[in-house]
Amino acid sequence: MPDYDVLISVAKQARENAHAKFSNFKVGAALHTPSGKIFGGCNVENATYGLTICAERVAIFKAISEGERRFDAIAVVTDTDTLTPPCGACRQLIWEFCGDVPVILSNLKGKTETISMRTLFPKPFDSSNL
Ligand code: THU
Repeated sequence: MPDYDVLISVAKQARENAHAKFSNFKVGAALHTPSGKIFGGCNVENATYGLTICAERVAIFKAISEGERRFDAIAVVTDTDTLTPPCGACRQLIWEFCGDVPVILSNLKGKTETISMRTLFPKPFDSSNL
């Protein structure tokens, strides 16, 4: 069972590394494996804007490239009063790589909400459709 507070604090730490000089919108994510490992990620922007990668996908790609294939929770942290849910592209990848995991949204003031991927992404396209 993932410790959500720890996951949020790793996401917060990752957010500090965000390269968000175009939007100034810093995001941190942290992905938890059933074996207890945590992979952090931050958003990485660049001058073309369109090649930006969100914090959630950075965390997923880091974990996948380290050989991990199973995940049981993901946290997303921003500095906003309204908590930030993953964008559409991230929902697709979280669904494909993590399935129906809890998505823990949090901000720097300690406001937190947990929502399942099934709720965030109710009618997904995935390998079962191929
Ligand atoms: N962003 C994320 O990293 N994750 C989200 O869930 C929403 C958006 C980033 C992308 C871009 O760098 C900035 O936030 C503004 O959209």
